[in-house]
Amino acid sequence: MGVYMIWAKTIQWLDDRVRLIDQRKLPLEEVYVDIKTPEEMHNAIKRMVVRGAPAIGVAAGYGIALAALENCDRKYLLEKIELIESARPTAYNLFYVGKRMRKLLERKEIKPALFVKEAIQIHKEDRELTEKLGEYGSALLPKRSQCMTICNAGALATGGIGTALAVFYKAKDQGKEVSVFVPETRPFLQGARLSSWELKKNGIETILIADNAISYILKTEEIDAVFTGADRIARNGDTANKIGTYGLALSAREHHTPFFVVAPRSTFDLTLNSGNEIPIEERPGEEVKEFRGIQIAPRNIEVRNPAFDVTPNYLITGIVTEKGVIYPPFRKRISLLK
Ligand code: MRU
Repeated sequence: MGVYMIWAKTIQWLDDRVRLIDQRKLPLEEVYVDIKTPEEMHNAIKRMVVRGAPAIGVAAGYGIALAALENCDRKYLLEKIELIESARPTAYNLFYVGKRMRKLLERKEIKPALFVKEAIQIHKEDRELTEKLGEYGSALLPKRSQCMTICNAGALATGGIGTALAVFYKAKDQGKEVSVFVPETRPFLQGARLSSWELKKNGIETILIADNAISYILKTEEIDAVFTGADRIARNGDTANKIGTYGLALSAREHHTPFFVVAPRSTFDLTLNSGNEIPIEERPGEEVKEFRGIQIAPRNIEVRNPAFDVTPNYLITGIVTEKGVIYPPFRKRISLLK
């Protein structure tokens, strides 16, 4: 049995409600919240109770299932799909799930069970494909390795064992030794609070670093590879991920460190020609000016808080998908992804 199975309670479907671990409270408190309506799910995604592209997609599916249990009228359901999709703009998985649910509205007869079944199926697919991501990714690692990641692309960010972090869980399961450098990932601290927590919990050697230590560590340590998740990948391979990923990729290139993106097909937006078209979420300035409600900057200072950046395809060594690893030229190979 996999070591990574210790942790799998990110999203639970309880027939008439969805139980989410409140990711804003980790690692200090392990608190769960029950979501009973599509409005509550919209809020949970917007306020980052649940976050990470695939997890947002799975949670959205259940949010729409809750709407169908309330009222299975086509117009009502379409409104609720649109409401949930409006929670966050960058992660494509949200829109991928919205698209799948819209497709059900085209059926001649619709009933709540149809939406519930689809949401459970989306979760199951996500769980299964993260295993594949882990297998393809871990095959890239030698018997003993040091890696780096950013943000949280683990069990907390998916319906399964993760995307980037699945690589480390699978490597460990195969008896490989892997240690992982985790940048704290300001301002929401997904690296410090979430990745460190779940990696440690699952017995992976983890070294937390400040974001501004990334280049120093890449220069002074033997880092075999960087593995990150993705929020949206355009047709040419340009990849939106947590703010700071672009800088990490630039530094990895400078230090001749392979840079891999790990993401399922549900993160690829084949309608976009390049990363320039990916909408980038700007979050409230308070996330930068405050820490857990404590002011750390002048109250009236102007703030920019982009939550994501786009790593251009030429900085990416390969993209690990559930169908295998895609190498450049990305445009041609991504167009073959079905
Ligand atoms: O703002 P977040 O925490 O939702 O951002 C998450 C990320 O950027 C992850 O790296 C990405 O969603 C991949 S998760 C498997």
